[in-house]
Amino acid sequence: MISQRPEDYIGLEEKYGAHNYHPLPVVLSEGKGCYVWDVKGKRYFDFLSAYSAVNQGHCHPKIVAALQEQANKLCLTSRAFYNDALGPYEKYMHDYFGYDKILPMNSGAEAVETALKLARKWGYLKKGIPENEAIIVACNGNFHGRTITIVSLSSDSEARGEYGPYTPGIEVIPYNDAEALSSLFEEKAASIAGFLVEPIQGEAGVNVPDEGYLKQCDALCKRHNVLFIADEIQTGIGRTGRLLCCDHEDVRPDILILGKALSGGVLPVSAVLADDEVMLTIQPGQHGSTFGGFPLACKVAMAALEVVKEENLAEKAEKLGKIFRDGVRAIKSPFIRQVRGKGLLNAIVIAPHKRKEAWDLCLEMAESGLLAKPTHGDIIRFAPPLVITEEELMDAIDIIKESIKSLEAAQ
Ligand SMILES: Cc1ncc(COP(=O)(O)O)c(C=O)c1O
Repeated sequence: MISQRPEDYIGLEEKYGAHNYHPLPVVLSEGKGCYVWDVKGKRYFDFLSAYSAVNQGHCHPKIVAALQEQANKLCLTSRAFYNDALGPYEKYMHDYFGYDKILPMNSGAEAVETALKLARKWGYLKKGIPENEAIIVACNGNFHGRTITIVSLSSDSEARGEYGPYTPGIEVIPYNDAEALSSLFEEKAASIAGFLVEPIQGEAGVNVPDEGYLKQCDALCKRHNVLFIADEIQTGIGRTGRLLCCDHEDVRPDILILGKALSGGVLPVSAVLADDEVMLTIQPGQHGSTFGGFPLACKVAMAALEVVKEENLAEKAEKLGKIFRDGVRAIKSPFIRQVRGKGLLNAIVIAPHKRKEAWDLCLEMAESGLLAKPTHGDIIRFAPPLVITEEELMDAIDIIKESIKSLEAAQ
C-alpha cells in the first residue's frame, strides 16, 4: 500500500491491530539521526527515541552496515550449535562492561525475567534460601516490562489490572527510600534474593532519586547478601550522561540488565550481565531463547556499542542535558510545574492550564515539528537521540517554547 494519507494507516491499525497503545496521530515512514519523517514528508525532531532505544540516532550507517553484512552471511542458528559471532560478542561485552559473563536475550522484559530467574537460582543454590521461599524486592512506580511476573511487581493498576493471579515472592517498597529497604532487610533478608531497581524511573516520568540512594541500597544489599539488580534498559548506554546511570554513584550492580539502545534500535537485543558466582548457577537446559544471542544481534550490538564510544555519546548527553534543562527552565509558563532529569533523559511535569494538558502540548509540538509523548497523563519525557547537535537542540527548545506560548495564547 502506498498512501500519503495518515488516516489510511491509522485506520488499518485501528481495524486489524490490537488496541493496546494510544499513539499520537502521526504516521512515520523514515528516520535519520535525530529526525523522523511522516508519510507526507514532514520532518520532526524525535524526542522519544523509541523510549531511549535509538540513542545512536535513526538508521545509523555503521549499525545498518553491520546488519546488512551479517544478514547476507548468517542470521540465526539457535543455540543448538555454536556460531562464529556469539563468542566474540560475549568477549566484547565482557571487555566493555567488565562482567565475567553475559546471558543474551531479545526484549527488555525477557532480560528482566532472566535476571529474576537468575536471582532466584542464586538465592537457592548459593545463599541457601529454603525452596520456594525466595523474595524479590522491587520499587513502587517501577516499570520493568509486561510479563505476568513483571506486572506482578508493578504498582500501576493499568499495567497489572485483571492479569492475576500474580507471581508470589515479591515485596514492593517505596522508591528513593533506602530506609524502607533497610527495614525490610532487617525483617526478611534471609529470604531475599534480589533487589530490582531502575537507577532513574523512566516510564514513571523520569523520577530521579536523591544523590546517594543507589549507593546506600547497594551497601545494604552487600551487608545482607542480597543481589543488587539494576534495570538499565532505559537509562543505560549513554542516555543519562554516563555509560550506565549507576556510574554516577560508582555503583557496580551484581546483575546488570540492558536492552533498547544495545542495538541502537535496529533489532530487539537485550542482555543480562553478571559474574560467575551468579551466572553459573544456571546450567544447560535451565533457561534459553531461540533468538537470544543470534548472529545478527551480536554484530549489530557490537556496532551499536562502538558508535557510543566513537561518538562520545555519554559525554554529549551530559553536556547537552544541562543545556536542555537550563533552556526549558528559562521558559516561564503556568504550564511548567517542574523540569527534571539527567543527561538527555528529561521530563517536564505539566500543570493543566485552562483545560489544556500534556497531550495538547504534544499535539502542538508535533504540529511544529517535534515528537514527544506524555506518560502518566501530566508528564512529558524529552529524550532525543544522543547524536543531536547543540544547534539542533537549541532549535528543539525553541519549538517547545513556541508551542507552550501558542497554547497559552489559544485560551
Ligand atoms: C526500565 C525498563 N525495563 C524494561 C522495559 C521493557 O522493555 P521491552 O519493552 O523491550 O520489553 C522497559 C521498556 O520501556 C524499561 O523502560
